[in-house]
Amino acid sequence: MKVLAIETSCDETSSAVISNGKVLSNIISSQYFHQKWGGVVPELASRAHLKVISKIVKESLKIANIEISNIDAIAVTKEPGLIGSLVVGANFAKGLSIKYDLPIIPINHIEGHIYSGCILNNSSDFPFISLVVSGGHTSLFYVNSFNEYLLIGSTRDDAAGEAFDKIGKLLGLDYPAGPKIDKLAQKGDYSKYNFPRSMIRSGDYDFSFSGLKTSVRYFLMKKFKDRVDEKELPDLCASIQEAIIDVLIFKAIDSAKKYKVKTIVIAGGVSANTRLREKTAKEAKENNINFIAPEIEYCMDNAAMIGFIAEKKIIEKNRDYFRNIDFTTSSKPYRSNYK
Ligand code: KG4
Ligand code: ZN
Repeated sequence: MKVLAIETSCDETSSAVISNGKVLSNIISSQYFHQKWGGVVPELASRAHLKVISKIVKESLKIANIEISNIDAIAVTKEPGLIGSLVVGANFAKGLSIKYDLPIIPINHIEGHIYSGCILNNSSDFPFISLVVSGGHTSLFYVNSFNEYLLIGSTRDDAAGEAFDKIGKLLGLDYPAGPKIDKLAQKGDYSKYNFPRSMIRSGDYDFSFSGLKTSVRYFLMKKFKDRVDEKELPDLCASIQEAIIDVLIFKAIDSAKKYKVKTIVIAGGVSANTRLREKTAKEAKENNINFIAPEIEYCMDNAAMIGFIAEKKIIEKNRDYFRNIDFTTSSKPYRSNYK
């Protein structure tokens, strides 16, 4: 089976070809121009998708060395995301589906992230805990199989990536600040400053990061008045990053113990964070838990993860189940899918 996948939920235009669990191509075009606006501008994002989508899809077919006539199904991100961005991918996919008479599988973006850790070996050690951490989401899932997952906790305010980006802005770093904080932190002292680990002992698996942002804001005002001393940036970044990741790691490990699972998988843009990957690996090992961190290209928004889970759905339900072309896109988040 060969699935052509399209993902345009936010500011990455991506297309991939998946065949029997293997990624034949995964092309990602990132919209770096949002940097100058300090965040993603929805209207500009949709226009940029529109401009490149045809080229990106063609390139994914070329790299996979496959003609569109040999594709068996189209997968596309349906929700959640920026409506205008989603519409570009969905309509492009619908057009291909009509022209080539192909089934179309609408996919939930978060579901794509949940299973992205399974892509490399095309299998997984079910059940596992999936920590999905991105610019828009911070959630923990108990995952029982390719079509069964339970949302066990999520952020009550800002997502972890949003915390990285908003706090980065306070430090004078450009959007997206996550990768910049990651880099600066590698030269810093993680214990120089002590910032709050919000909700770490809340007894549930929810998160909150807006308090940390406020705490950093007051700290900076008091210590630096109007300009952060550049020499302090590595220690500040390392200490702030530690406050974010400590809560993520604590809750991931604790939920693995509570749900008696042996594997934790991380996913989403923030899962590219060097210190998060290293510290989770270490703590998981100390607790006899396997830890899976996807390759960076599968951590960020990408179409391979959309095609990968779509193929599992086709195997479960068969191709002809996916003939509804009238689905709409949506900004609403994900639900559990647990029987
Ligand atoms: O999953 P993603 O590409 O897009 C969505 O939000 O769906 O995630 C983007 C987020 C941004 O907030 C960015 O700052 C963060 O992931 N990020 C990182 C790193 N790389 C990306 N945060 C911390 N460390 C990183 N290395
Ligand atoms: Zn994402």
